Amino acid sequence: MMKKITIAIDGYSSTGKSTIAKQLAKALGYVYVDSGAMYRAITLYALENEFIGSEKDNIDALVKMLPYIKLKFELNNATGAAEIYLDGKNVEKEIRSLKISQHVSRIATITEVRQKLVDMQKKMGENKGVVMDGRDIGTVVFPDAELKLFMTASPETRAHRRYKELLDRGEKVVFKDVLENVQNRDYIDSHRENSPLVRAEDAIEFDNTDMGLQDQFERIKGMALRVIEKQ
Ligand code: CDP
Ligand code: CDP
Repeated sequence: MMKKITIAIDGYSSTGKSTIAKQLAKALGYVYVDSGAMYRAITLYALENEFIGSEKDNIDALVKMLPYIKLKFELNNATGAAEIYLDGKNVEKEIRSLKISQHVSRIATITEVRQKLVDMQKKMGENKGVVMDGRDIGTVVFPDAELKLFMTASPETRAHRRYKELLDRGEKVVFKDVLENVQNRDYIDSHRENSPLVRAEDAIEFDNTDMGLQDQFERIKGMALRVIEKQ
């Protein structure tokens, strides 16, 4: 049997990371892990408990509660996709709102939050055969991943993709707010002190501004198969 590898996919918001990660996992029979969903779930918890979003932030209180926050992924048998649960509740839909997107990058700067989630992510990938997407997967979570991709596309293209997604999901948003959020998150994610979004030296940069999903999938699948064959 062919040896399994680890695939790390990083990049800016709405570059198609999770789409390609899911397709690859399915094609290879690997596990897909959406690390962004974990940061989003902690953000939802912080908002629900009013540690953020009301008059004054109480990050210390959030940090104290971190050991008690339960996160897990469970397979939805109907769709075949893993969905995230926060303290036993499926929050897959809720965490995708623009509101969560507007707070998540700040929560992702907190060292203790990153520590908890990176530990969980390393465990999920300890047996290889995993495709994980995020911002620090190739640099921090799996620095030894056999295949690392760094996805990019122009900010306008990305904002249009995300805008369409939010409208399709029935959320009333204006394009300007979505573009602003994409740009703000890029800035915070790339400039934070702890595990900033940077291309790992050995990551392959992949610009898909003008590339359709099928073309992107064929090319990246080809890359993955070549790496697997060499193992
Ligand atoms: O899907 P999208 O690219 O918009 O975002 P996401 O992957 O769901 O991640 C949401 C946010 O979580 C990012 O903007 C980062 O602030 C944070 N994040 C991170 O810091 N590290 C990761 N490995 C994954 C996400
Ligand atoms: O995970 P990330 O935020 O990087 O992006 P995604 O959720 O995979 O993709 C965001 C949206 O862009 C989805 O609706 C994709 O279908 C779309 N997309 C596209 O139209 N063309 C690409 N080459 C990549 C993504």
